[in-house]
Amino acid sequence: MMRAAQKRGYAVWVCEQHALHWREGRVAAAAQRISLADDDEDWYRSHETELRPLERFAATLMRKDPPFDLEYIVSTWLLSAAVRQGARVFNAPDAIRDHNEKMAISEFARFTVPTLVSREPERIQAFIDEQRDVVVKRLDVMGGEHVFRVRPDDPNRNVIVETISQRGARTVMAQRFIPEIKDGDKRVILIGGKLVPHCLARIPKPGESRGNLAAGARGVAQPLSARHREIGEALGPVLAARGLLLVGLDVIGDYLTEVNVTSPTGFREIQDQTGFDVAGMFLDALEREE
Ligand SMILES: Nc1ncnc2c1ncn2[C@@H]1O[C@H](COP(=O)(O)OP(=O)(O)O)[C@@H](O)[C@H]1O
Ligand SMILES: [Mg+2]
Repeated sequence: MMRAAQKRGYAVWVCEQHALHWREGRVAAAAQRISLADDDEDWYRSHETELRPLERFAATLMRKDPPFDLEYIVSTWLLSAAVRQGARVFNAPDAIRDHNEKMAISEFARFTVPTLVSREPERIQAFIDEQRDVVVKRLDVMGGEHVFRVRPDDPNRNVIVETISQRGARTVMAQRFIPEIKDGDKRVILIGGKLVPHCLARIPKPGESRGNLAAGARGVAQPLSARHREIGEALGPVLAARGLLLVGLDVIGDYLTEVNVTSPTGFREIQDQTGFDVAGMFLDALEREE
């Protein structure tokens, strides 16, 4: 993304969350200019640091990974204030604050498998008895962290439910296990509401059921299926209208499991394996946005 921006003549400035601040009615950041190198190991050079209000950048891209904690939310408040002073921020801070990556499937329930969101251990237990093969996961993390597969006869079943729900103090998602995960968790990318023509199948490594690159999954670019198109075409315009310029859908088998909006990945693997210029498509969409 940064290389594509540099190629189009933009200067690339970077900062982390801590550099964002509000003073005398303006949201500003102490940002550092970098230039991108072609070497993937030694990939940038640092240049000057400058304090600037965010509206003085052509665009601000928020790419903070979860945890979705209070600091994450505070950053979106600051970025929303920056938008009110005229900054162009993507994904739209109001939208990423409103939009939990796992809970978001509830809006598109016709594309999901049976799913429960609850903090009551008894209700989660009843769901396991009913669905027989279930995944339980936390709502605020990513990368396959705290994802448990559990069946009714699992000797650790009660401990898993107690631990993940902190004995009823934390809301979690329980979902019917989708066996097609063996063919990969498919990342379907939407840019400006339009589908990138290839998905990235993240195939779990042997002995692992999580299809996250962070959990060692292998990324293989594949053509989109008819179902991917159906889901993408239904969600694309709805999400784009909210200022969600870049969205990474997770689809396992025929089912939508996640709508990633904080810092979706997959550009590099798709671009390297297919030659399709995903970053160029993103820059085109960014330049089209008001
Ligand atoms: N319903 C499900 N059926 C089968 N596997 C699942 C299911 N939900 C999650 N998983 C597994 O867990 C991984 C991570 O789940 P996901 O919901 O995408 O959360 P995150 O990527 O934020 O950790 C998936 O790649 C998949 O391997
Ligand atoms: Mg995921």
